[in-house]
Amino acid sequence: MKILVTGGAGFIGSNVVDAYVGAGHDVVVVDNLFSGKRENLNPKAKFYEADIRSKELADIFKAERPEVVNHHAAQISVPASVTDPVFDAEVNVIGLLNLMEVARRSEVRKVIFISSGGAIYGEAEEYPTTEAYPPQPLSPYAIAKAVSENYLSFYSRQYGLDYTVLRYANVYGPRQIPHGEAGVVAIFMDNFLNGTPSTVYHFEDEPRGMTRDYCFVGDIARANLLALEKGSGTAFNIGTTVATHTLDLYNAVYAAARERIEGLNPEFEVPKTGVARAGDLTKSALNAQRARDQLGWAPEVDLETGIKKTLEWRINK
Ligand SMILES: NC(=O)c1ccc[n+]([C@@H]2O[C@H](COP(=O)([O-])OP(=O)(O)OC[C@H]3O[C@@H](n4cnc5c(N)ncnc54)[C@H](O)[C@@H]3O)[C@@H](O)[C@H]2O)c1
Repeated sequence: MKILVTGGAGFIGSNVVDAYVGAGHDVVVVDNLFSGKRENLNPKAKFYEADIRSKELADIFKAERPEVVNHHAAQISVPASVTDPVFDAEVNVIGLLNLMEVARRSEVRKVIFISSGGAIYGEAEEYPTTEAYPPQPLSPYAIAKAVSENYLSFYSRQYGLDYTVLRYANVYGPRQIPHGEAGVVAIFMDNFLNGTPSTVYHFEDEPRGMTRDYCFVGDIARANLLALEKGSGTAFNIGTTVATHTLDLYNAVYAAARERIEGLNPEFEVPKTGVARAGDLTKSALNAQRARDQLGWAPEVDLETGIKKTLEWRINK
């Protein structure tokens, strides 16, 4: 199958490209290298250095005629979306619309859109949160993800363009960068390797800090494979259901680092502490039962194993 992956030079997109190529698909990558890297590109995929907002996109679709579009390209930083909501919307909303307009005029059968279960539910009362919970996006980044899902539904109704939405939890693994939603895994690892102390931010009534649902990127890539044929017109949480406090995550990364990093400063066993930034969600975990039932997806890599794999990649990078 011919699949066009936007953001295929980025952390998650490049892992998805590898999975598609590995399954024998014909893959085209569109990425402007804003945060993506050439070294992440799969050599078997055809690469266009292009912006999803550009007119060039129509020519690429005309030349390549993809059957499925997998949309990972995005402005991914929540704080950056607060500082510059116009830029966030240009990439994450106008970029999506440019892509959908091109897609509906070509022979694209389906669009797989990447949303954020870690962001769009806001401070949810249902926890772990199901897809039925009404989105309460609290940042421009989350607002753009929520509105994008509505646009997908519009294009499906108006033009019969099929779609699946994957609402990721906090994704970590090889090639991750410190600025993304699970960037804290990369930050702790970089600090251990650079001999720099880390800070765990806590809340007044919770010294272990916020909770997040950390999902390994290999499991995420598998969900993208399944979504090629399943999950028509539906949004899916893709997460582990396990809520991990930042301090527990730190301890897990420290345990892996102690085994692998020679001369690790023993003082790092206990992190520094700081007060959480205003606006940080206190908790987030996703119920992924719908993905189990309808996509046949379940996470396979536990946190300890995933951290070891990620550290191994980071050390050998
Ligand atoms: N990392 C997470 O935990 C997480 C969680 C939920 C959702 N997501 C979503 O997953 C997707 C991938 O995120 P990531 O963590 O791999 O980040 P990333 O920054 O590594 O990937 C984004 C990619 O999009 C490209 N890009 C940015 N603007 C572009 C533009 N205008 N035109 C073309 N390409 C452009 C970047 O160069 C990069 O390669 C994003 O949609 C993000 O919102 C990530």
